[in-house]
Amino acid sequence: MTLLEAKGLSIVFPTSRGEVKAVDQVDISLGEREFVGIAGESGAGKSTLALGMLRLLTPPGKVVAGEVLFHGTDILKLTDEQFRKDYRWTKLAMVFQGSMNGFTPVFTIGSQLKEVLALHGREASDSTISKLLETVDLDNSIASRYPHELSGGQKQRAFIAMALSLEPEVLVTDEPTTALDVITQATIINLLKRLRKELGISVLLITHDLALISEAVERLYVMYAGGVVEEGPSIDFFAKPKHPYSQGLLTSTPTLTSNEIKGIPGFLPDLANLPPGCRFTPRCPFAMEVCKRDYPPLKGVGGERVACWLY
Ligand SMILES: Nc1ncnc2c1ncn2[C@@H]1O[C@H](COP(=O)(O)OP(=O)(O)OP(=O)(O)O)[C@@H](O)[C@H]1O
Ligand SMILES: [Mg+2]
Repeated sequence: MTLLEAKGLSIVFPTSRGEVKAVDQVDISLGEREFVGIAGESGAGKSTLALGMLRLLTPPGKVVAGEVLFHGTDILKLTDEQFRKDYRWTKLAMVFQGSMNGFTPVFTIGSQLKEVLALHGREASDSTISKLLETVDLDNSIASRYPHELSGGQKQRAFIAMALSLEPEVLVTDEPTTALDVITQATIINLLKRLRKELGISVLLITHDLALISEAVERLYVMYAGGVVEEGPSIDFFAKPKHPYSQGLLTSTPTLTSNEIKGIPGFLPDLANLPPGCRFTPRCPFAMEVCKRDYPPLKGVGGERVACWLY
């Protein structure tokens, strides 16, 4: 069953160059206990989409269209007070991009975890903290350490523990493995997989690294220039990505057996000045006349949905 769903969500940033359309009419859903990925290159709008869905967007960013349903309630319509009291962190939690460096340097990890619990009127004893750290495979001794005494992987786990401290139903993690070595990256993904199962939570994982999440996520969205270009079960996607952008994204991933990284020539279009038609056209090896003219809607292709005039 669908737990969290954005429908026709559009988010803009007013700038001196005009409105940057960071997220443009995006439909995205997360089911109960589902593990879903969002992939796409830097600037695609992944973080903005996640922040918008969790009401964590800060000005000048603003939602200009669409709704975000959680258990069927449009959370964008709630008052700040209602949302803060009944939803933020207690139902919908987020591990921010770069959150590893989000701890206050002068307090121990334990005291920062306790503060979050106490702020929400929860029990904040040593044993609660110990259990919380255990959930993310961290030793109890971490509680008395300062953030600079932890490795990057340990800090990321501690931040995940903080996000889980109020027992949310949804955990959104934005690039949780960036700046970590490959072995630690894999352990963080495995941790998220285990937490999803053991705690029965839904996980939305944002990344630019398709190879890393290929085994973990059940379903995947690929974003390009503010829009979703492909969506479907991982099994179908990784067997044969359909959108030329997804294909490029996969061949841009280095592998151990090949030292050839193809990449995608060109750049993302200016989001303040989007061309009509498909935004990938200038970089697409299969571009046709129609692509320059008309924006392709998402259409069913096999078990997936793809926004491309090739289909
Ligand atoms: N505060 C802001 N003011 C103006 N533009 C912004 C702001 N925040 C984000 N943007 C723009 O919105 C677009 C989407 O940015 P976003 O951070 O969501 O991308 P992303 O997919 O998360 O990228 P990355 O992989 O680098 O994290 C970009 O063009 C970015 O420049
Ligand atoms: Mg981002």
